[in-house]
Amino acid sequence: MTFVTEETGPAGLPIRITSLTKRYLPEERGDRPVLNGVSLSVDAGEWVILMGDSGSGKSTLLNLLAGVDRPDSGTIEIGNVPVSDLSESERTLFRRTRMGFVFQFFNLFPTLTAWENIVLPLRLNGRHDSGPARRLLEEVELAGKEHRYPSELSGGEQQRVALARALVHGPSIILADEPTGSLDHRTGHVILTLLSKLHQERQPTIVMATHSQDASRYGQRIFHVRDGEILDNPAGRP
Ligand SMILES: Nc1ncnc2c1ncn2[C@@H]1O[C@H](COP(=O)(O)OP(=O)(O)OP(=O)(O)O)[C@@H](O)[C@H]1O
Ligand SMILES: [Mg+2]
Repeated sequence: MTFVTEETGPAGLPIRITSLTKRYLPEERGDRPVLNGVSLSVDAGEWVILMGDSGSGKSTLLNLLAGVDRPDSGTIEIGNVPVSDLSESERTLFRRTRMGFVFQFFNLFPTLTAWENIVLPLRLNGRHDSGPARRLLEEVELAGKEHRYPSELSGGEQQRVALARALVHGPSIILADEPTGSLDHRTGHVILTLLSKLHQERQPTIVMATHSQDASRYGQRIFHVRDGEILDNPAGRP
């Protein structure tokens, strides 16, 4: 199975999640599953928000979407690809070519410079070009700091590197798990404004978990997660 990437990337792909169930501890049959029959659909290029208490299952859902973990039952389709049915190596390939990630604690490689972090997704996809990385470096306003290591950058700068890295290979899907959770309010706003601009330009589909009402306003629809279930919220606004 091949997943083609182009410099600008394909437009975002739709996501269809059906009746997803996940338990971490299969022996505890009596317990409620961590995800208990989650169904939701996200349009191509849409930016949706997952909100809910700590432990409600947001990161679990993102991990299943990323294919780093598998559901016990239910299906995930991204575009026309049944991601939940792929083998581990196919899921890894899909993730590497089609997805970008942004995390609360940035998750940059500490022994790589900002530039090396940003070009990494291109290299992992066998690409030797650097144009997209150079453009994104400018867009996140880090030109001149590309030779610094993550430890030599502020939190906001590290998250800007992470945004560039998440988008450089033209992914169809961005998964963001509390991307402003460790930043102060102003810096968080800068990051989300930048993500918003990049979203408008490149139109990836974004699924973002956040505890912040402010951050949730950047998305187009909000899904409320409670005890492993999505609450009915047809209007998508609290
Ligand atoms: N690897 C794991 N093994 C066992 N239980 C886990 C594992 N990961 C998460 N859980 C449990 O699953 C539930 C949901 O966790 P999850 O991390 O998805 O919540 P969350 O909504 O992301 O919370 P937060 O807002 O604190 O990040 C919690 O009860 C958690 O303890
Ligand atoms: Mg979480």
